[in-house]
Amino acid sequence: MASDRLSNRPVETGPFFQRDRNWHPPALTPGYKTSVLRSPQRALISFDNTLSETAGPVFGHAMLGEGDNDLIHNFASPGEAALGERIIVYGRVIDERGVGVPGALLEFWQANAGGRYRHKKDGYLAPLDPNFGGCGRTITGGDGGYAFRSIKPGPYPWPNGPNDWRPSHIHFSVFGHGFAQRLITQMYFEGDPLIWRCPIVRGIPDRAAIEQLIAAVDMEATIPMDARAFKFDIVLRGRRSTMFENRLEGN
Ligand SMILES: [Fe+2]
Repeated sequence: MASDRLSNRPVETGPFFQRDRNWHPPALTPGYKTSVLRSPQRALISFDNTLSETAGPVFGHAMLGEGDNDLIHNFASPGEAALGERIIVYGRVIDERGVGVPGALLEFWQANAGGRYRHKKDGYLAPLDPNFGGCGRTITGGDGGYAFRSIKPGPYPWPNGPNDWRPSHIHFSVFGHGFAQRLITQMYFEGDPLIWRCPIVRGIPDRAAIEQLIAAVDMEATIPMDARAFKFDIVLRGRRSTMFENRLEGN
């Protein structure tokens, strides 16, 4: 029997989960200003995937550096740490059936505690933290699980409307077993009042789809006197799929 190269489990032969286009926002959401120029103006053309796009390469743990999953320390000077609220983000990458997806490369990037990115085009007033780079990565384990440490990113203003602010968020990229299998989304934090005021979030028509992007505080996984924990599961296909912002225009 054919098997998955990483897990040795049988290849899925069950029903294909069609993409639910009502779950994902339309590509054109004028309240999110850049979507006006970015959304397709003409009918889409589909291309078949090539074998190399769908079959490889496979990511392995050998490519990970020590500390890649610890944003508190991975850019800090020896003996120092990033400023901010210490957090653990954890969860599972699962498919529509709830089966874990092993071997997925997760990359994450975020602003610092003051809401500023370490990027030359970010000129926000908040200072850079010399001990915080703002990016990291990890690979899901056999059950699709992942975890990393960081500091809670701050909200920041952005030039969309006259006074628009992004809620605290962490960007996620998920690679499957090939470079063509990339999905991108954002995670928000439970209780943040800016979530429901954000023009990007408000481009998502279904409230339940938005709520799936909000990581819940998990006191059980919190480390006392150290860090709070937030749980964020990523679903790859079907009605309960996470909203992926780079898949708005088609499949
Ligand atoms: Fe951002």
